[in-house]
Amino acid sequence: ELSFPDDKFRSQIHFTPKEAWMNDPNGMVYYDGEYHLFYQYYPDSTVWGPMHWGHAVSPDMVHWKHLPIALYPDELGYIFSGSAVVDWNNTSGFQTGEHPPMIAIFTHHEPVGAEEEGNNTYQYQSIAYSNDKGRTWTKYEGNPVVPNPGIKDFRDPKVIWLEDFQQWLMVFAALDRVKFYTSPNLIDWKFQSDFGMNDGSHGGVWECPDLFQLQVEGSEEKKWVLLLSINPGGPNGGSATQYFVGDFDGKTFTNSQDPNASQWLDHGPDNYAGVTWSDIPEEDGRRLFLGWMGNWNYAQVVPTEKWRSAMTIPRSLHLTKNQTSGVYTVASRPVNELASLHTKSVDFEKESVNAGTRFSLMNTDDLGLTVPFKSEFTVNTSGRQSNFRLVLDNPKTQEEFVFRFQDGTLYGNRAKSGLTDFADNFAHQEATAPFQQLLKEKELKVEFFVDESSIEIFLNDGSVVMTEVFFPTEGFTRAYLISDDNPLEINSARTTQLKSIW
Ligand code: FRU
Repeated sequence: ELSFPDDKFRSQIHFTPKEAWMNDPNGMVYYDGEYHLFYQYYPDSTVWGPMHWGHAVSPDMVHWKHLPIALYPDELGYIFSGSAVVDWNNTSGFQTGEHPPMIAIFTHHEPVGAEEEGNNTYQYQSIAYSNDKGRTWTKYEGNPVVPNPGIKDFRDPKVIWLEDFQQWLMVFAALDRVKFYTSPNLIDWKFQSDFGMNDGSHGGVWECPDLFQLQVEGSEEKKWVLLLSINPGGPNGGSATQYFVGDFDGKTFTNSQDPNASQWLDHGPDNYAGVTWSDIPEEDGRRLFLGWMGNWNYAQVVPTEKWRSAMTIPRSLHLTKNQTSGVYTVASRPVNELASLHTKSVDFEKESVNAGTRFSLMNTDDLGLTVPFKSEFTVNTSGRQSNFRLVLDNPKTQEEFVFRFQDGTLYGNRAKSGLTDFADNFAHQEATAPFQQLLKEKELKVEFFVDESSIEIFLNDGSVVMTEVFFPTEGFTRAYLISDDNPLEINSARTTQLKSIW
């Protein structure tokens, strides 16, 4: 079993590499009781470099065991982002034993080709297979399986099995759009369609798509969701993940929503390149997600020493539909498996708190609670505006991270959260998320998770989400709610101490 030295800022409830640089989650697949997480990894430094696929497995998406590196760069290039599937019917013919093989589908990035002027063909899709539960891999000798026709950014394949059409579908990013290809065997791929040139945000390059079907909550209706990461051009600068909701006929995706509107999976600056697990058993039925808790604006200079970047907590994705406007929204919810980290809880009484008075949710001195923890609370809005702040701080260092709920917008502010000057664009602006529509309900329900160097907040069952990282010099020792002008009516509140996953 691994235990980490208690190095500064080390995430206690999030996946982190033991050491060195990590970015995107890759190849997330469930196989024989194990959730696999591969990830973009550069073992020789704490900044990005020649990409490998790091590897870890978990029985519950919460507790992780680090495994040896799964894929190393080779003569075709670095191993960029991609996905993995279980080839249940051995369509690829790569099965050697009794059990179906696991196939990884990834981008090869040829660094020398990338440096040649005018050469746009240095990224292409390749595959590798494993017959021992992902422990060892063989790259297919006929790689690449999708050669590059001359498009500069051509990467991040996500493969899914289309049950209705009995074939594989690959979706990947190509500069300003996604491309769909189909295959009977994961080796021979046929181009089908493009999507997105005129849809959503285009402030940067498109990366890391994912496509899956979800049932609209409370209805029989099913829609297809396309996740799409974009960098730069996110709502807070830098990296962010947008999504589209539409229909898919096996070859073509059609957007059902306003093509000019951008919808963001997470409004915080630090949830990027997230995709969902493949081959989750049907009886489970959830669509399970992890994102990289980082932003290309500053991820390579954050002040952690031995390792860089963590993943978000695992979340399940849900589709809701507004009956009045007909707009579909993808909600993200922390998975129930996180309850295995709960230790003691403190429940708070319903209370009307006067303006200017703090309502304590976490306090190391008085309540004996520490980071990591989670809190849930509900605030009576009675359909009115309710302005207040949620503050994490440390009275000794006077450092604070603040969420401001103001006139239907959530603002995340880390200007005084500790170490911030490692990058100009780390604390330069507040992150914002509109939640006006949630004020139509009688109460606002808030849930948030605090770790040594991050906060993830979920409003009304994840319909609005914000994820932010921060680096307080001595950690935060308090969390409280405070309203400046009107009494704050708290209906319920509970804080739960969490134990470390390591
Ligand atoms: C997204 C990304 C992917 C690429 C990988 C390289 O963060 O830029 O498009 O495959 O990182 O590490």
